[in-house]
Amino acid sequence: GRRGDLTGRRVVVSAGGTREPIDPVRFLGNRSSGKQGLALAAAAAARGAQVTLVTSTPADLAGVDVVTIETALQLRDAVVAATAEADVVVMAAAVADFRPSTYVGTKIKKSHDTGADGSADESAPSITLVRNPDILAELVTSRGAASSPVIVGFAAETGDESGSVLDHGRAKLERKGCDVLVVNEVGEHKTFGADDNTVTILRRGSDESTEVGPASKAAVSDAVWDVVTTLL
Ligand code: C5P
Repeated sequence: GRRGDLTGRRVVVSAGGTREPIDPVRFLGNRSSGKQGLALAAAAAARGAQVTLVTSTPADLAGVDVVTIETALQLRDAVVAATAEADVVVMAAAVADFRPSTYVGTKIKKSHDTGADGSADESAPSITLVRNPDILAELVTSRGAASSPVIVGFAAETGDESGSVLDHGRAKLERKGCDVLVVNEVGEHKTFGADDNTVTILRRGSDESTEVGPASKAAVSDAVWDVVTTLL
């Protein structure tokens, strides 16, 4: 039975898309709704876990310790702090790969008056990006040879000429070194913001895969925890 099978376990779940500020009113973001991450946190709590949810999507879930963040760097700090004592970390957040290199403290204006003749500068600004840390990869590195915490990643993949969704997922699982990878097939009208999800759950060192869906994000969550509990 699932009820109570995570009792006494401490789990960390990250959810939602990060927002990387450009100036006080603008940010770079993505289409993640955070629904799958919130469902994972709720499912873990229902199964008895002590849950910390690090999220950019505001949430109020019974029995869940919610930490609200905005940027990738804030998400990293909150996840790392919560992970110190965790048995499981699930990185369901859509972390921005890049952020603006500088934050402009006042709103960037569309045009600027220049020179004594009062002529306006109508040029457009450029935004330089820098890479954000890969938090999932950092968690794997800092775990080192220890067996805890179990580390779960998510991957949104599309098939292409170089391979299927599953090929890309297996390659990513090896590259990232996490224990479980939940692979979403993405495309127009799929996954982002939807209430249902279709995923394949892969485990490192196993050729087996578990396909789930189309199913509610709650049902997908329970399938993920079913796999994780076999690794605890
Ligand atoms: O490489 P890709 O972005 O597809 O990997 C997705 C997985 O990596 C997700 O679990 C996501 O939460 C995590 N990730 C991360 N830090 C990043 C980018 C992605 O932890 N900067």
